[in-house]
Amino acid sequence: MKRSSYCGDVRENSIGKEITVCGWVHSRRDHGGVIFIDLRDREGLLQIVFQPENKEIFKTSENLRSEYVVSVKGLVRNRPAGTINPNMPTGSIELLVSDLEVLNTSPGLPFEISDYVETSEELRLKYRYLDLRRPNFQKNFIMRHKVSNEVRSFLNEEGFLEIETPFLTKSTPEGARDFLVPSRLHHGSFFALPQSPQIFKQILMISGFDKYYQLARCFRDEDLRADRQLEFTQIDIEMSFVEEGDVMNTVERMLSRVFKTALNIDIKTPFERMPYEDAMLRFGSDKPDTRFEMEIRDFSQELKNSEFSVFSSVISKGGIVRGLCIPKGAGFSRSEIDDITKFVGEFGAKGLAWMRITDTGAESNIVKYFKEEEVQAIISKLNAKSGDLAVFLADEEKIVAQGLGALRLKMGEDFGLIDKNKFNFLWVVDFPLMEWDKEEQRWQSLHHPFTSPKDSDSLTKENAGTTKAKAYDVILNGIELGGGSIRIHRSDIQKKIFDILSISDESAKEKFGFLLDALTYGSPPHGGVALGFDRICALIAREDSIREVIAFPKTQKAVDPLSNAPAPVSEKQTKELGIKIVPKPVVNTIKV
Ligand code: AMO
Ligand code: AMP
Repeated sequence: MKRSSYCGDVRENSIGKEITVCGWVHSRRDHGGVIFIDLRDREGLLQIVFQPENKEIFKTSENLRSEYVVSVKGLVRNRPAGTINPNMPTGSIELLVSDLEVLNTSPGLPFEISDYVETSEELRLKYRYLDLRRPNFQKNFIMRHKVSNEVRSFLNEEGFLEIETPFLTKSTPEGARDFLVPSRLHHGSFFALPQSPQIFKQILMISGFDKYYQLARCFRDEDLRADRQLEFTQIDIEMSFVEEGDVMNTVERMLSRVFKTALNIDIKTPFERMPYEDAMLRFGSDKPDTRFEMEIRDFSQELKNSEFSVFSSVISKGGIVRGLCIPKGAGFSRSEIDDITKFVGEFGAKGLAWMRITDTGAESNIVKYFKEEEVQAIISKLNAKSGDLAVFLADEEKIVAQGLGALRLKMGEDFGLIDKNKFNFLWVVDFPLMEWDKEEQRWQSLHHPFTSPKDSDSLTKENAGTTKAKAYDVILNGIELGGGSIRIHRSDIQKKIFDILSISDESAKEKFGFLLDALTYGSPPHGGVALGFDRICALIAREDSIREVIAFPKTQKAVDPLSNAPAPVSEKQTKELGIKIVPKPVVNTIKV
């Protein structure tokens, strides 16, 4: 029987018509002689009715079980009054069967195909083909397809060319470990899978393609989290003869189109542009979630002469004191305050100072050390009200920002302050070009080493820490959607940057010599951006993890339980590749 319609697409306008649908038996109910089946395909469910009058078909229908694959022909009719289900798009109709063909059977399932059943991730991914049958997944992947289609249409209309760059290539530095592929023909030599197409897209600009894009798969051997996978997809863009604003404007218009198509939401452009310094001060993060207030304030000036020696001594050593007001937090018990102290401790904070705000001022174990005007300055700067809790960290800037930034998010979540219906886009701009790596005692690029400084001529090793970059990150609701920069297009400046980063001439030549050479042959000024496609899809689908919008993701432990990858290979293969496997050293766990 040839299919004439998807189950989930049938509507009232088909009433009285004969149709044929195919799909999986989602559920089966026996109602005193009449059998009902919800038949499922990628578009949704349709109620199928088997009546005993049609003896042979009825008998077959009695043997149908969950996930059998069937094709049914029948007449579409109204459901009887009182049996209408307003929560289903096909809830007012049903199909009265005249013909049934069982196309395949299925054994009992390891878990129910339902959006409401909790199953361990390991089991879900082992039987991913069943997991993906869940209606919510089918919806997510139809959406993902629509979004990629919209991205391509937009960029095509804007004159971008889609060009593929290689998977088997050389290392691209994006801050993660490389996945290496041994070469069979050149023993001892390895390809690296791209962490991003960064160098190749710059070379495409040097080749004159002017505007490039790619929905590019990237590979990074890094620790997995809800928003990170070993392989993921970027909307990768590069443009010639542009400045920061041109790239940002393109991204804003693209995201507007995507969110309008996917969610029918009008997002406001241009997005707010927040300097990095502001983001770190006010939100303790370079990806601020601005859906709620609770901003951090600095008290290093006001409290530098404080009698509370924890604060004044930190400030005198070049540290800072910042605070945050937790609305209605004065009700916290001592053990709850201990819990949040432990929480900020995970970010390196050595303690947490606090004050309960009252009608007349503040109270806590430390208030006695503060002058009346200091308490009033705190209350006024935090805009604190009676019943709130003011908390403070004193330490080096990084620890204070990270600790308070994380605490702010936790309190926002715990107190239900985050409006989940908001889509707050913003750009973080004016990033420092480099940051000092205390362990390695050298400068590191904050983005990647191809990012242009705001003023490349005056850059020196001495002022590297205060030099800003022509870089920008686009943030949505506290998640980094993407980032990019204007690139260095002159080889002398690129060399200067490598020098400041303590990358020797030899090492630069070996790693990126081909880019350095290419830059000498008439490189146009250029810049670009890459957006995390999986993250965009997860946000649109309102999923907490990108695993819900990736068909075959890895688990948190970086394995694929479906195919059992990674797995050992045969000796023949390792021999061919000239590779010898050394057993992983056993860590001695014997306690002395
Ligand atoms: P960056 O490293 O910031 O920039 O990556 C851009 C965006 O890619 C997404 N992303 C990830 N998504 C899922 N899993 C991961 N492991 C992962 N890592 C990154 C994020 C991130 O914002 N070449 C530069 C871009 C440029 O300068 O044009 C780059 O790759 O959403
Ligand atoms: P102490 O003098 O160590 O007993 O600390 C007094 C109060 O200050 C306690 O509430 C500590 O949690 C808090 N405290 C200690 N160190 C810091 C710090 N670096 N930042 C903020 N509060 C701190």
